[in-house]
Amino acid sequence: MNLASVIRSEQALLVPTYDRHKILLDRGRGVYLLDSRGKRYLDFLSGIGVNALGHRHPAIQRTLKAQAGRLIHVSNLFFHPYQAELARRLARISGLERAFFCNSGTEAWEGALKFARAYARSQTRDGRKPKWRILALDNSFHGRTFGALATTGQAKYRDPFAPLVPGVTFLAFNDVADLKKKFDSSVCAVCLEPIQGEGGIRPVSGEFLQCARDLTRRSGTLLILDEIQCGLGRTGSHFAYQQYGIRPDIVTIAKPLAAGLPLGAILTTDRVARVLHPGMHGSTFGGGPLACAVAIEFLRLLDELMDQVRERGAYFRGELDKLKAKHDCVREVRGMGLMLGMELDSTERAKAVVSEMLQRRILINRTNENTLRFLPPYIIQEGHINQVVRALDEVLSSSRLEPVEQRSIRRSTRRESQK
Ligand SMILES: Cc1ncc(COP(=O)(O)O)c(C=O)c1O
Repeated sequence: MNLASVIRSEQALLVPTYDRHKILLDRGRGVYLLDSRGKRYLDFLSGIGVNALGHRHPAIQRTLKAQAGRLIHVSNLFFHPYQAELARRLARISGLERAFFCNSGTEAWEGALKFARAYARSQTRDGRKPKWRILALDNSFHGRTFGALATTGQAKYRDPFAPLVPGVTFLAFNDVADLKKKFDSSVCAVCLEPIQGEGGIRPVSGEFLQCARDLTRRSGTLLILDEIQCGLGRTGSHFAYQQYGIRPDIVTIAKPLAAGLPLGAILTTDRVARVLHPGMHGSTFGGGPLACAVAIEFLRLLDELMDQVRERGAYFRGELDKLKAKHDCVREVRGMGLMLGMELDSTERAKAVVSEMLQRRILINRTNENTLRFLPPYIIQEGHINQVVRALDEVLSSSRLEPVEQRSIRRSTRRESQK
């Protein structure tokens, strides 16, 4: 099959929800992807934060093959050896005692919201109305099911599907006064991403997160953190919240957990887990032996990579900051570890940069319209970063990327000076 025939078939057969780049990927190795013609691309997006170990990691391949040859699926009606072992490792790195396994980020988030409502109900004395309101952040992204959408603070995702689940109030990003104003005894959960991913790589401030922790702790309300994009080593610590010095009541994870197989998890405290009983929540596929065996291997490898994420992240950040100092079109560089964003002065320019980088066979993308997003695999070397920075420098210097108005102003100034 060639690219043109795949495009034709997809156009005829798929629900048209995706706007794909026109490359047909065939295989991967390490930090590279190869297309059907053998062209090699440097992958600085990792399947949106999933391929943290790069492609075809030998230890992951070994585990996959061995487990696929033994047992793939059993349902949650029976035991298998890997869920408890994976939960033990997650508890060790997160400081949260219990895990529930599902298949995706959205599903983990949806479950976390259910846990919050169930917890609030269990704490309510007879005859009283349980706490039920949820506070979420403007510009957040938590997924595309109804509960997840209801807590997602971006109109473009929500509006086509309204009305959504009621009871959600949005807070201005990093606005402590707004949080204090909207927090009251009817709130069952405050929920947020420590670094907004789809919102433009925006880290929440320490003051805001600490205030959310203090308010929720004092009133027995849950603090739920979405670390689906920023968790599991991406920021240079196992979880981003560890760099803020707090512990949430619930954290959701997914993306890199099973190195490319679908697996998500809700991690929580004993206190919250105690209110859930058999039958209250569940999943047919969640936490199957194949995904869990691979996730155990992923966590083992992650421990060896954490220093590297911190070092490479700091180096990359420094290089991006230099580009900011050099190019007026760069508004801001943000992020932590290997979750970095570069906000440009226009959506048009950001689109052009992504496609110019693709021409140079480097994969990055855009988030929140005008922010370039970098989520490279944790195994990248300094040389790969240099290659990306050099390409970005060239692309940002190119006059072809100027917004149309600016280009025509320059052209007419040139004409004036030639007269
Ligand atoms: C912070 C965050 N939450 C939730 C999700 C949804 O995860 P999934 O696409 O695995 O359902 C994403 C996906 O990008 C995400 O970045």
